[in-house]
Amino acid sequence: MNKINDSAWKNEMKIRLDFNNMMTDFVGEHGISVEDIEKISDKIENAKKAMVEKRKNGKMDWRDLPYNQDEIVDDILSYVNEKKDKFEAFVVLGIGGSALGPIAVQQAINHPYYNELPREKRNGFPKLYVADNVDPEKLVYLFQTIDVTKCLFNVISKSGSTSETMSQFMIIKKMLDEKLGKDASEHIVCTTDKVNGNLVKIAKEEGYKTFIIPSGVGGRFSELTPVGLLAAAFCGIDIKAMLAGAAFMDEICKNDDIYKNPAFMYAILNYIGMEKGKNICVVMPYADSLKYISDWYAQLWAESLGKKYDNEGNIVNVGPTPVKALGVTDQHSQVQLYTEGPFDKMIVLMGVDKYKETIQIPESYKEIPSLGFLGGITQNQLIQTEQMATEYALMKSGKMNMTITLPEVNEFTLGQTLYMFEVATGFAGELMNINAFDQPGVEEGKNATYAFFGRPGYEEKKKELDSKPAKKDKFII
Ligand code: PA5
Repeated sequence: MNKINDSAWKNEMKIRLDFNNMMTDFVGEHGISVEDIEKISDKIENAKKAMVEKRKNGKMDWRDLPYNQDEIVDDILSYVNEKKDKFEAFVVLGIGGSALGPIAVQQAINHPYYNELPREKRNGFPKLYVADNVDPEKLVYLFQTIDVTKCLFNVISKSGSTSETMSQFMIIKKMLDEKLGKDASEHIVCTTDKVNGNLVKIAKEEGYKTFIIPSGVGGRFSELTPVGLLAAAFCGIDIKAMLAGAAFMDEICKNDDIYKNPAFMYAILNYIGMEKGKNICVVMPYADSLKYISDWYAQLWAESLGKKYDNEGNIVNVGPTPVKALGVTDQHSQVQLYTEGPFDKMIVLMGVDKYKETIQIPESYKEIPSLGFLGGITQNQLIQTEQMATEYALMKSGKMNMTITLPEVNEFTLGQTLYMFEVATGFAGELMNINAFDQPGVEEGKNATYAFFGRPGYEEKKKELDSKPAKKDKFII
């Protein structure tokens, strides 16, 4: 994308947040007023200061990713250049923050049936698969689909100890060793911490090419590190444009005026909404290409903001519940609830000004009024009009909703979108006075798994599990 140096084009590509329908002026008593925002101005000022301080003190390293990766990007691009023709498929082994970003970006930018296209229609790039879950059926089916000897496996794990990812790695490594002998190492590339964890040690010992996840960047904030950039580049996605989009949004997010800063405003509206009992946040893109952005967002929002303790150690049990939906598909599934159900949620619609394709509906069945009106319009107009209509219906029934619009779905607008949601998450964490960057609730489940398997070092946890109340038969039908 050679337009990333063209400032007029970049301004044209600026994503927009329209929050009219969050406000009492439009949705009435269940909305947010300007006074509600003013009432928390001290909190907002403190959150702004904290964002600046934390960034300065190296506690938000993910904010610098758009600027400090020139060498890494060069390394990624030359590695992709050297390897891409040698493999039929690039397979990501990772979970959570190590998988959701690569999936979301691939789906947003590339053809929805990318893997089914002939290679020349993929511009010569390999297919992409992401194996995240440990569902045994899925992995076996993957092996039935790919030829492992023609794949490059990207093992992504910051900790290097995530059971799901490492078990997949162990299975695949054995297969590669058996089939390829000493050449197996050419089929594995690792993305992990520079010093900590098993994966970096294994990579060094076994001679795998390794890309580094900066130590101060947590999994769900890592899409703009090699976690996401390598997989994207292997599928021909312009990673420089993604980073340029993030940098563009970073400038916008430096604005102290909350009415000019979409990330801060997004967080503020969510925070006040939660205070008013709207704990559920539905993200509903009107574009299949953005469907998996909701998955990525759901992890970012839930894992960052769902917390038991506040920063002073008080038990607060707070957090929004993200819900994934897709427009227009879910108009025929969930929108009934959103429109007429309880006032417990806000809906974030995501729209696109210009879709990558246009398709005309033929002027047939003119004599049938309920079909005839469709003739001559485009599906583009239909989806956009349905989005407007849903927005209107939600507003009319007093349901808070806002719309994020991407002028187009491209690398530049996607970089902006990811970065905006990340800053919003950090800012929401500050408003909520919780640590948005840890995930102690996830650790409990991981530790229990280790203990069930008798992993050394988890003996105490095993005892705790052994003494848990026995299940009662009468509650099992
Ligand atoms: O956001 C997070 O930190 C998590 O979702 C992790 O990305 C996920 O648990 C995978 O961890 P790891 O990269 O250590 O394998």
